[in-house]
Amino acid sequence: MLDSPLIPDAEYDKLFRELQALEEQYPELRTPDSPTQRVGGKPLDAFQPVRHAVPMLSIRTETDISDQGAIAFDVRVRRELGLSENDPLIKYVCELKFDGLAINLRYEQGRLKQAATRGDGETGEDVTQNVRTIHQIPLSLQGDCPSILEVRGEVYMARRDFERYNERQREQGLPTLVNPRNGAAGSIRQLDSALAARRPLKFFAYGLGEVQGWEWRTTHEEVLGQLGAWGFPVNREHKVVQGAQGLVNFHRSIEAKRDQLPFDIDGVVYKVNSLALQEKLGFVSREPRWAVAHKYPAEEQVTVVRDIDIQVGRTGKLTPVAKLEPVFVGGTTVSNATLHNEDETRRKDVRVGDTVIVRRAGDVIPEVVAVVLDQRPTHAGEIFDLYKRLHGKCPVCGSAIVREEGEADWRCTGGLFCPAQRKQALLHFASRRALDIEGLGDKLVEQLVEVGIVSTSADLYKLGMSALVDLERMGAKSALNLLDAIEHSKQTTLARFIYALGIRNVGETTAKDLARHFGSLDNLMTADEARLQQLPDVGPIVAQSVAAFFAEPHNREVIFQLRAAGVQWAEHEGEPVRELPLSGKTFVLTGTLPSMSRDEVKVTLEERGAKVVGSVSKKTDYVVAGAEAGSKLDKARELNVTVLDEQQFTQLLKDCEST
Ligand code: IVH
Repeated sequence: MLDSPLIPDAEYDKLFRELQALEEQYPELRTPDSPTQRVGGKPLDAFQPVRHAVPMLSIRTETDISDQGAIAFDVRVRRELGLSENDPLIKYVCELKFDGLAINLRYEQGRLKQAATRGDGETGEDVTQNVRTIHQIPLSLQGDCPSILEVRGEVYMARRDFERYNERQREQGLPTLVNPRNGAAGSIRQLDSALAARRPLKFFAYGLGEVQGWEWRTTHEEVLGQLGAWGFPVNREHKVVQGAQGLVNFHRSIEAKRDQLPFDIDGVVYKVNSLALQEKLGFVSREPRWAVAHKYPAEEQVTVVRDIDIQVGRTGKLTPVAKLEPVFVGGTTVSNATLHNEDETRRKDVRVGDTVIVRRAGDVIPEVVAVVLDQRPTHAGEIFDLYKRLHGKCPVCGSAIVREEGEADWRCTGGLFCPAQRKQALLHFASRRALDIEGLGDKLVEQLVEVGIVSTSADLYKLGMSALVDLERMGAKSALNLLDAIEHSKQTTLARFIYALGIRNVGETTAKDLARHFGSLDNLMTADEARLQQLPDVGPIVAQSVAAFFAEPHNREVIFQLRAAGVQWAEHEGEPVRELPLSGKTFVLTGTLPSMSRDEVKVTLEERGAKVVGSVSKKTDYVVAGAEAGSKLDKARELNVTVLDEQQFTQLLKDCEST
């Protein structure tokens, strides 16, 4: 398609979309060799070089991360423009500095013609085939558009997409991506576009290259507005400000919410708003004088692994954790970083003594992403072997450890005999979304378990003043507060209680489903695996975990004691008898329907008994796909899940009425 097109791309696009629409309407006509079934094109041998019509320059980076970095830029701009103190403040557009891969998109007569990487700024690589698989990039522009338009922006991977992608890879024992930036860059430079298409990429537009047929633009702000109008995603966090103080305020306000952003940024960018002033300022050594990048503390740092510890989680999962030479990364000092599991540790080949790259971004726990191999000392430890390392025993309780077939994790078999599991189980029981016992933190649980006064959650309700005041750092006042919080926690809900039990594979959502479905704890406790699997989202693994948990006499005893201590909730009949037309059906929504908002679709489905979930799996019954449907649609096709367009969806709702 790329090397020797038989028809123009624009024509191809049109035909392709027509075919897609037809197939959506008449799924029986869809054949496996239809072009719509091939998300990317044929693998390439190499990328073709592309000479940029307008060079893709980089911007000067202000590495002084204090306010001074912003002030210095404003001072420079004013000096270059020959402005005095009495002249008015300069208007700037402040933007985020996205941490991905810069791309130039070339549109001719409104159609995407070519996408190229930056390369050395003069010549990049033709990555059109891969870029076309990014759903957020318009293949044709909306409304009136210039005859030639080059749009510049950043291809990136959102943090959640990156985490999910890696989680899936880890589960399957496949290599993970180092960070979202490498994820984006690696996917775009992937020669097989079908593989590239499987990576969840997104795009933000922030500037222009060559333009013919749009002469009268005057500010950068106007450019961003127009980019949005043509159909490009433009990040909302941009702002027009005045003077140095405006820049400083923007830098600070973004820093405060950096962790909450859905994607990585490594700084902010300031651009002089007036295009006339930009022209006047011009360039110096291939960098514009009218723009600067103002950085934030790095989210990746290099440090040394002092040791590898193994932590025991609530369900006995053994996680290797790198003990690090403390390092300032992503705004805090980090001295522990997860290595996830044995396979990951081996694949990255992390050894004691190694120099490693540590990443901490957003509120995700810090992780070791890679080893700097050429800095490995001669005395570095051996390749990581969890079993050998622990001599086959849990480091906390000495019970045997096992790694079941098909599982990525080793586990301690000690159950609640293991103090580590006990502590984690207690912390989980008391956590906010479980029984919400305020004040029962890490240190306290540690002491209670060490001293031996608490070993199960039921023991918490036997605590009295005398036992508590003897503990370290526990005055009479905090002891009273804690007892009060414990007393308070006795009134709860069934869903919270089920979640608090800490059953393996039962998170908050499953706990809610179970509570709603069974209505009472006794119903749930007596349900067998087959009965449990009647719930739409409960598969064999979850069913087995639940049944095994309640079969364990020790667990039944703890539950008995909790209830005897007064822990209670309102019980009601479950809902198994209430059969609605879509009961047991799972839906996933993607794209937008012209006639209904996403929330309306969700409520409509739920009212008819269906469950609406976020991602497509083999258990999904239907995917409702609207305009601009994303990767979920590809996934649905891959798994042969029925896809409904708006018309088919409306028909389904009508059918519901008649049943
Ligand atoms: S403007 C001439 N704006 O940062 C100005 N760049 O060296 C061209 N970047 O490789 C760049 N976010 O990939 C601009 N909002 C933003 C940006 C941004 C990220 C990247 C871009 C470029 C590097 C600047």
